[in-house]
Amino acid sequence: MSKVAIRKLGKVFAGSASPVPALENIDLDVGEAEFVTLVGASGCGKSTLLRILAGLEYHTSGQLVCDGHPVRGPGADRAMVFQHYSLYPWLSVIDNIKFSRGLRVNRRELTSSDVETASGRADALLNLIGLERFAHAWPRQLSGGMQQRVAIARALLGRPSILMMDEPFGALDAQSREVMHDLILHIHRIERTTIVFVTHDVEEAIYLGQRVVVMQPRPGRIQRIYDVPLPAERHQDMKHEPAFRALRAEILDCIRQNAGLSTDVELLDKLNA
Ligand SMILES: Nc1ncnc2c1ncn2[C@@H]1O[C@H](COP(=O)(O)OP(=O)(O)O)[C@@H](O)[C@H]1O
Ligand SMILES: [Mg+2]
Repeated sequence: MSKVAIRKLGKVFAGSASPVPALENIDLDVGEAEFVTLVGASGCGKSTLLRILAGLEYHTSGQLVCDGHPVRGPGADRAMVFQHYSLYPWLSVIDNIKFSRGLRVNRRELTSSDVETASGRADALLNLIGLERFAHAWPRQLSGGMQQRVAIARALLGRPSILMMDEPFGALDAQSREVMHDLILHIHRIERTTIVFVTHDVEEAIYLGQRVVVMQPRPGRIQRIYDVPLPAERHQDMKHEPAFRALRAEILDCIRQNAGLSTDVELLDKLNA
């Protein structure tokens, strides 16, 4: 059974003047412990699809099933990391990890054993993200990349069955992004969380994904799904391998065609919009 099964899913926003069709006819299965990336130009519905998966938004047609149950709203089993590290500025790093939304949506008083379990898990996660020395630092004392690590640890606290990430490294400089790429792959290997990761960066989509889902705009649809022909264990040198470069060129071509763009400059403009 798939972890996530999406069938003929569509989303039309009411819109102020006329309805806005944001997603149409989306069919996608995500397997247990799979790392899937969604890539496409700005406006092709990536965030909308992720928000629907997270239960923050509702689809207007089709079906969405997660772990065998229709998704009807947010749940502790599905966690999200956004581009802007949404840490509580008044809590230390370790407390930000401990007091996650994942625990609060259980809607009951936390027992002392819950708190103990959360503390042990928070310490382990702090280790996993390599910030043991910063347990009692304030978010403002950390770099953007470090804050995003804390946001990831917080999302993982309740052992979500799916982790959704919406351009989580979009605000970081190139070097921090590479570090974060290897970190999230390491986390995926250790935690075996199913990850659905949205980006407009084709290289990032290939480096991280076992499959890359290419979307096209107006209305958002899946153009094509590519299997990434690289070993499960990735390293930065692979970006220079012919298989990587060929896939990158093919996906860029695919996006360029469906966006009706002719030059790379236009394409890059579109992707970075
Ligand atoms: N709340 C909303 N109301 C109306 N239209 C929306 C809303 N959210 C997104 N859209 C529209 O849906 C389309 C897809 O948006 P989005 O999912 O944000 O794309 P992406 O993340 O790929 O850039 C866009 O045309 C956008 O304007
Ligand atoms: Mg978006």
